[in-house]
Amino acid sequence: MKRILNKFKRSPKFDLIELTDIDVNEDPVRPELDLSFRTKHGRKIYGLKDEDGDIAAIMCFAFTNEVPKSIEDMNLLSIDAEGQSIHRAGVQGTIAIAYTVWAKKKGAGKHMVNEVYKMIKDSHHLNRLVTLSPLTDMARNFHLKNGAEELQVNDTTQNFEYNVTLEEWEKYLEKAKKFFKIK
Ligand SMILES: CC(C)(COP(=O)(O)OP(=O)(O)OC[C@H]1O[C@@H](n2cnc3c(N)ncnc32)[C@H](O)[C@@H]1OP(=O)(O)O)[C@@H](O)C(=O)NCCC(=O)NCCS
Repeated sequence: MKRILNKFKRSPKFDLIELTDIDVNEDPVRPELDLSFRTKHGRKIYGLKDEDGDIAAIMCFAFTNEVPKSIEDMNLLSIDAEGQSIHRAGVQGTIAIAYTVWAKKKGAGKHMVNEVYKMIKDSHHLNRLVTLSPLTDMARNFHLKNGAEELQVNDTTQNFEYNVTLEEWEKYLEKAKKFFKIK
C-alpha cells in the first residue's frame, strides 16, 4: 500500500538560481577558492532552491572549450573561453565544468545534478557537462551513481561526464544498466 501511495506522491519542485555571494568556507571540496575566483571570467555559482525556500545544494561552474585536468588548467581555459566569447556576443565556452558540489540537505546533491542536467540540455550553446572532481570515493560514487561516465583520472583530479545528448528515457536506461551491472 505504501508503495502505491509513494507512486502518487508529488515530486518535489526545485529552482536553480545563480548566487553571487556564498560562504566559501562551507565548501568541503575546495574552500581555498575565494568568491572572486568563483565569479570572474564568466564563472558561475548555482544554488538549488527547494520548496521551503532553502538553498539545499551548491554547485560551481567554469565554462571552457576543453576539458581541464586541474584547477590551474581550468582557470586558464576559462580565461581563453572568455577571450573568444568577445567575438561571439557574450556566449562563453561549450563545456560546463562543475568543479565542486555540496549538499546542505541530504539527497539534495542528486537533485542538483538533475536540475543542472536539464539546464545544460536546454542551453543553446553548452553541449557538454563535465566535472573536475577531487580524487575521492565520495565524488566517484556520487557521479557514477547519478549516471555520469568516467572520462579520465588525472594526477590530482578526476573528470566525469554526464551525457547531455541522451534522451530522458535513455538516461534512465543507462542508470538501470549500471544498477543491474549490464553492459
Ligand atoms: C557528495 C554529496 C554532494 C552527495 O549528496 P546527496 O546527493 O545529497 O546524497 P547522499 O549524501 O545521500 O549521497 C549520495 C551518494 O554519494 C556517495 N557518497 C556519499 N557520501 C559518501 C562517502 N562518505 N563515501 C563514499 N561515497 C559517498 C554514495 O554513492 C551515496 O549513495 P548511497 O548513500 O546510496 O551510498 C554530499 O555527500 C556532499 O556534500 N559531500 C561533500 C562534498 C563532496 O565530496 N562533493 C563531491 C565531489 S565534488
